[in-house]
Amino acid sequence: MDLAQFVRALPKAELHLHIEGSLEPEMMFALAQRNGVALPWGSVEATRAAYDFSDLQSFLDLYYAGAAALIHERDFHELAMAYFARAHDDGVVHAELFFDPQTHTARGVAFETVLDGLERACEEARERWGISSRLILCFLRHLSEEDGFATLEQALPHIARIHGVGLDSSEQGHPPAKFERLFARCRELGLHVVAHAGEEGPPAYIVEALDLLRVERIDHGVRAAEDAALLERLAREQVPLTVCPLSNVKLCVFPRLEAHNLKQLLDAGLKITINSDDPAYFGGYIGQNYLETAQALQLSRAELKRIARNSLEASFVPESLRAPWL
Ligand code: HPA
Ligand code: ZN
Repeated sequence: MDLAQFVRALPKAELHLHIEGSLEPEMMFALAQRNGVALPWGSVEATRAAYDFSDLQSFLDLYYAGAAALIHERDFHELAMAYFARAHDDGVVHAELFFDPQTHTARGVAFETVLDGLERACEEARERWGISSRLILCFLRHLSEEDGFATLEQALPHIARIHGVGLDSSEQGHPPAKFERLFARCRELGLHVVAHAGEEGPPAYIVEALDLLRVERIDHGVRAAEDAALLERLAREQVPLTVCPLSNVKLCVFPRLEAHNLKQLLDAGLKITINSDDPAYFGGYIGQNYLETAQALQLSRAELKRIARNSLEASFVPESLRAPWL
């Protein structure tokens, strides 16, 4: 069995995937045309050529522009079905999808439109491929706490359909502390909590996410390597890190995959998972992330197995339902 086949055959969970980040340029253009939305690029090719990022913000500017093509319930459904088809091909048995309601409600798209379309895709993916899934509402951290609370208010009538909350968008200058009260309220509501931290932001943001937001997983977290005490804590407490290697290279967190610290984090005893983040923008879905990382860092098959197992253990699926996969 070659490495690609081995990776595909590993039952795995994807825990860090922004559904808006799976919008391929072809679908973006088709939806924009169908919906009469103007895009800033003239063609699919020009769009792909623009995906040359220098940092997180340079990506986010394009990511929000592309998301403007999504208007109707069926758009969100088609988007998520295309993702699930790819995920199934890559051996994903469970996916926890991030979605960014504020990106859509700010354009006049109703919260329910987004949720209905995504949820219908989740149900269809289970029927068609047996993939289980969860939806995680992400708050945009460049917006205010008040805006976050207003979004939570919109989510409340549907709260049983949402499994957790996260924190994404521009990290620098928007520390987790800004959302301490919002996350406390979300925890009171029984929601799972995660946050992006230590992608571009300092290790102190990871500490804040753990201590102030009480997150159950850290999204990215690669800058933890700069703080020995934090590394030791993450290993001791077995806090899962949802690492996205191809994303990190595309956003210049590391100059190339060979320089990524994933193996170092794994060797330090951290509970590492591999994910795709925004695969339409970063050049690969989860399988490609496993494969290229394994090649660049010379990960053994036992290490890849460990990482896939970590992803199942770190998921928000109760242990009793997880057993058949392990
Ligand atoms: N980081 C922060 N916000 C995001 C990302 C990311 O990698 N992808 C989509 N929103
Ligand atoms: Zn992300």
